[in-house]
Amino acid sequence: MADRNRADREATVFGYPSPAPVPSLDALSVPPMPVPLPSLPIDDDGKVFAAPGYSPPQRRLRREAVKAARQVDRSHRQRLMALRKAEAEALRAEERRAAYLPKGGEPGSMAGRTYRRLKVVPHRVTSEVLAGAYPFLAEEGLGSEGALIGQDSWSGTAFCFDPWDLYRRGALTNPNIFLGGQIGRGKSTLAKSLATRYIAFGRRVYVPGDPKGEWSVVSRAVGGQVIELGVGATARLNPLDEGPRPSGLSDTACYAQVTSDRQALLAALATTTLGRPLRAVERTALDSALSTTVAGHSTPILPQVVDALHAPGNAVAGSTVAQLLVDGREVAHALARLVSGDLAGLFDGPSTVRFDPALPMLSLDLSRISGSDTLLGLIMTCTSAWMEAALRDPEGGQRLVVYDEAWRLMAQPALLARMQSHWKLSRAWGLANLMVVHRLSDLEAVGESGSEARGLAQGLLGDTATRILYNEPTDEAVSAGKVLGLSSTEVRQLPELARGEGLWRVNERAFVVRHLCTPGELALTDTNARMIEGARG
Ligand SMILES: Nc1ncnc2c1ncn2[C@@H]1O[C@H](COP(=O)(O)OP(=O)(O)O)[C@@H](O)[C@H]1O
Ligand SMILES: [Mg+2]
Repeated sequence: MADRNRADREATVFGYPSPAPVPSLDALSVPPMPVPLPSLPIDDDGKVFAAPGYSPPQRRLRREAVKAARQVDRSHRQRLMALRKAEAEALRAEERRAAYLPKGGEPGSMAGRTYRRLKVVPHRVTSEVLAGAYPFLAEEGLGSEGALIGQDSWSGTAFCFDPWDLYRRGALTNPNIFLGGQIGRGKSTLAKSLATRYIAFGRRVYVPGDPKGEWSVVSRAVGGQVIELGVGATARLNPLDEGPRPSGLSDTACYAQVTSDRQALLAALATTTLGRPLRAVERTALDSALSTTVAGHSTPILPQVVDALHAPGNAVAGSTVAQLLVDGREVAHALARLVSGDLAGLFDGPSTVRFDPALPMLSLDLSRISGSDTLLGLIMTCTSAWMEAALRDPEGGQRLVVYDEAWRLMAQPALLARMQSHWKLSRAWGLANLMVVHRLSDLEAVGESGSEARGLAQGLLGDTATRILYNEPTDEAVSAGKVLGLSSTEVRQLPELARGEGLWRVNERAFVVRHLCTPGELALTDTNARMIEGARG
């Protein structure tokens, strides 16, 4: 008995309880075997009828024999069932006594794991060396803040991106984004997804120039405003509009700001139409014409400025009225293009549309304007000036400004200068500028080597912390690799990227991201529809 107790204890210590004793049949309350069969009758002639199949001749005896046989059978089954029941009960009792892990695991930290702590000697190596031993290293990602973009192709995790949040966390030095890639690879689709998904986070989106008119459907879908300019459109914008007044600005500061904006705009328009920088005396004549116009009209418009250039009112320091007339003549003729030339009717009167900065999205559809890139640049200069008053408002919240097909605008140094000031001021104004071009070398192709325009275009890239590259041909990938400092693996990957897949450089970190679209988004952004319908029809 003592030995048995010890064995039990030891078994329990090691976690294996000794099996529960199965009760003997005697201990079970099983009904005893029935009375023995009635003794068999012996025939007179001395024969014993005890063989199988024997049936006593008397009916009563036969019934008793059948009854007795049934009883034996029943009793046997009862004994068997009692035995099985006792065994099952013993098993259950054993299970109850055994220290099994609970089904849901043990509570507390490190539950269900080994009770010994894993001890590993710390060893520090670079990820490059470590990848030799363990090649499954992947970026930890940018976190789960902001809009979901798609799937990180290297790690398989979800990829979220929010330039404002990343800037706040110090992961980005500025919120601007560059997006480059061949035609039809999904650049605009990504830009539209970013726009619509950020709107869900309370941001607003401005598209100051949409040369293909492909943003209009998106803008309407999110409850935004579309302004159509060009042949057959009735909208007219006055680029000299004061615009919504930024909150917290005094009258004097506001007047100074509006004046300097108007001067900058007129100078940019004159520079673009003349195709050369303004001379100092021309600038003076232009500023003087502007102040004459503002003095005489509460809502100045371009034709009044052109008139004032043709007929200067007052002399200014260093220039007589006659000198102002001579100095401003060429500028007046250049600006006349917007008043009576091919751009007549677009910017030469008071605005017929109002810009509501509270709307989630505003896009300027320029698809009706066919012409040179200079023309487009000129129009974008006016439209971006018109929007700028709203962009400048520091209380305006976080906004995304999209320059789709920006390569068409790059040729205009005056517009580039405007864009650069937006890029520089993005952090102060809460803006994230998104520039979409075909390739990085579009920036290299701007102006002459060493020219101001080239410097401005490269400066834009310098002020852009997020660079997204879609599929590029090999030679373009190599030069992009040099400019952005891509690794050889990343350069090799660029020509192999599928549609909707891009290499994201977020500061110094790199991700290959598969942009995932919902069917609803694809319906809004499908730029192939016309191509396919055309082929069918
Ligand atoms: N991530 C994606 N998933 C599915 N289709 C896409 C994706 N990105 C782009 N597309 C499709 O590819 C076509 C071309 O895309 P688009 O954005 O207009 O190219 P890009 O602006 O680079 O010229 C569109 O019809 C769009 O529906
Ligand atoms: Mg596109």
